[in-house]
Amino acid sequence: MRLNVNGEERTFRGAADTPLLWVLRDTLGLKGTKYGCGVGVCGSCIVLIDGEPRHACTSRVDEVSGKSVVTIEGFARKPEHPVIQAWIAEQVPQCGYCHPAQVLTAAWLLGRHPHPSDAEIDNALSPVLCRCGSYPRIRRAVRRAAEMLAGKARHSPCSTAALCALPAAGPGDAEGYVFNPWVRIARDGTITVVIDRSEMGQGAITGLAARDEGDVARALKQASHVVEALYETPYLAHATMEPMNCIAEVRDDGCDIWAGTQAQEGAQRRTMDLTGLPRERVRVHTTYLGGGFGRRLESDFVAEAVQVAEVSVAEKGALRVERVVCAADCGTLINPDAAAAQMEGGIIFGLSAALHGRITLHHGAVMQSSFEDYPLVTMRDAPEIEVHFVNSRHAPGGVGEPGVPPIAPAVANAVFAATGRRIRRLPLFAPAES
Ligand code: FES
Ligand code: FES
Repeated sequence: MRLNVNGEERTFRGAADTPLLWVLRDTLGLKGTKYGCGVGVCGSCIVLIDGEPRHACTSRVDEVSGKSVVTIEGFARKPEHPVIQAWIAEQVPQCGYCHPAQVLTAAWLLGRHPHPSDAEIDNALSPVLCRCGSYPRIRRAVRRAAEMLAGKARHSPCSTAALCALPAAGPGDAEGYVFNPWVRIARDGTITVVIDRSEMGQGAITGLAARDEGDVARALKQASHVVEALYETPYLAHATMEPMNCIAEVRDDGCDIWAGTQAQEGAQRRTMDLTGLPRERVRVHTTYLGGGFGRRLESDFVAEAVQVAEVSVAEKGALRVERVVCAADCGTLINPDAAAAQMEGGIIFGLSAALHGRITLHHGAVMQSSFEDYPLVTMRDAPEIEVHFVNSRHAPGGVGEPGVPPIAPAVANAVFAATGRRIRRLPLFAPAES
């Protein structure tokens, strides 16, 4: 079977009903197209077929014979494309797993509508889920790319103000610029990061007792007024876009691990424990994209965040979260824009749980199977998010997860402010009720 992929003629000798996704990834080695659900729901496998975004997981290879297929590898041959430039300028990706599909879909949208409205952006991009919650930045990047196409914005290599504003090393300063005790930029451009772990360890201790003093039972007995209420939360699934998989090659003389992970040292330690191999014989290869979603962390930092949400409630009770303002104290900021991106993602992640997340069990079996019955927040539902950091000189405390727990109470409080109705049960809109 003859295929045209990224402008090149390719041949596939295999079953006609093989999903295009497997042909791209396994036969042609184009790993930029990602598998998420396999049933046409998550959008992470989207490629352009004859210029239109299509799911590679549900497209048979014989259906695309004679058509043009463009994957992210082909699109990336034009790094000057406004979408790519805008993605870089807005520092959009987090784990990056969904972004091959996001970028291709954004380029398709701008090809059709060079000046899209926000609603058009949301509608076009909503079919691609992002579990890291990079929606606010995707929206900004598409707006920026549209301006670039219209000649109103120029390429800016980085919108990360704090990093762009780094002062150059002064003359005679042999060490270069010392950003803080942990990060140093040498005069030759080498960046040295002093840190005892490479993973982005983040931990929230919400729910643990920070202080335990006094006698609660006696205080309640003596209180003039006691308020009692039952708060209910369902079982939740982490619902990662990227399957939780890993390849390990275990040999007598060592072990190589290939995994999307953000806890490389943890993976190395675990492998050492299992194999008895010394550290220098265990190598962890981190994949270029993926490994995010907070699923593969160790909880070794503490941070705190508070949030306020603004919602609109329509007459029939339909709820929309319009805006979230987040204030976080996470110690010294090393990369303020990346920290803000992490908090944005944490808020979107927590919003999926607050609005929809619910695992149900029947005879001990989980009833949900994928994103079609465990819906996530999409571009269409993503609120505007403002993140403010407390100016702090304490050691870095981690970001991301601290954005997750406060969003459900923030939304519930906003609903109370708008309607006078207290919500004490999550999710606010279970799938069957939405
Ligand atoms: S993998 Fe194709 S839509 Fe999810
Ligand atoms: S950046 Fe979208 S899934 Fe991670």
